Amino acid sequence: MLVLGIETSCDETAAAVVDGDGRILANEVLSQLDEHRPYGGVVPELAARAHLEHVDAVVAQAMQTADVTFADLSGIAATGGPGLIGGVLVGVMTAKAIAAVHSLPFVAVNHLEAHALTVRLTGGESAVEFPYLLLLVSGGHCQLLSVEGVGRYHRLGTTIDDALGEAFDKTAKMMGLGYPGGPAVERWAETGNSERFELPRPLKGRDGCDFSFSGLKTRVRQTIEDLPPGPISDQDKSDLAASFQAAAGDAVVDRCSNAIEAFFARNPGGGPLVAAGGVAANRALRERLSALADQSGMAFAAPPVELCTDNGAMVAWAGIERLRLDLTDEMDFRPRPRWPLDPDAPTAAGAGVKA
Ligand code: KG4
Ligand code: ZN
Repeated sequence: MLVLGIETSCDETAAAVVDGDGRILANEVLSQLDEHRPYGGVVPELAARAHLEHVDAVVAQAMQTADVTFADLSGIAATGGPGLIGGVLVGVMTAKAIAAVHSLPFVAVNHLEAHALTVRLTGGESAVEFPYLLLLVSGGHCQLLSVEGVGRYHRLGTTIDDALGEAFDKTAKMMGLGYPGGPAVERWAETGNSERFELPRPLKGRDGCDFSFSGLKTRVRQTIEDLPPGPISDQDKSDLAASFQAAAGDAVVDRCSNAIEAFFARNPGGGPLVAAGGVAANRALRERLSALADQSGMAFAAPPVELCTDNGAMVAWAGIERLRLDLTDEMDFRPRPRWPLDPDAPTAAGAGVKA
């Protein structure tokens, strides 16, 4: 099994070639950071144009690095949603064209499923088996899911307002730390005092597994407004980044501990706690989750840091998992801006497509 995976749903134009044993033969990621940096966030129209301009070269580079031809492939996978529709269209059209010309199966991958299954790609001998409890934290999503098989997800909780990555990005923007915010907050937090600023832990101690981050974001803004006028000092930046990260971490751990109970109620003897998505690259958060899993008698697993943020390898791997089950898509597949993993889960009013 050998699959080309294409990812274009946000601000990375990415392509990878992965084989059935989970070997990553090529993993090309072209980030559009410079295009979006002046705006402090991803501009959908710019992203779509940049994907269109670069996708062919990124795919060609991946094929060359992997040293394979299209004829060697078992299928082509592309992110089919959810995400910025202009970008998703570019990836899907590219994949369909290659599949049609070379008579290969086409797989439309749910971006969230690609994040969800990455840990099975990178596990090697000790690959994670179903079922597992997944904390999926990215720029667009913040969910807790019972992962029970390919295409089989039960949502235990979701954000009722902002996604965790969004909270990191907005905090960084308010402090002038640059874009993307998550890695910047993490870096500044390393030398900060996490107890200096008192910030809320939204929903902590409440029942259920939902998240909320807008109150935390608001308090960060108020804290900045209360600082002496003028540019924020480096010490203040570090202390506020550390205080934010600690507050967000406490809230996440609290929600996860409720989810662990709900997960085992559904799946007695179930598997590990898994973190995935861009924010799972955060080392402080990984440590907190690993400690929580330890306390709960569970193993903890997360993809290597470089495969937490968007990439083509996760899309190729989700393609492999689906191809193995004959779950392919037709050429009339239409990109889906909204595509929940658990279609039965209710929508959260304040979170829009994030839920
Ligand atoms: O999964 P991803 O690459 O794209 C989406 O599907 O949204 O996630 C991107 C998000 C951004 O909000 C980014 O700031 C955050 O992940 N992120 C981090 C870190 N690295 C990326 N957040 C906290 N700490 C990090 N080290
Ligand atoms: Zn993502």
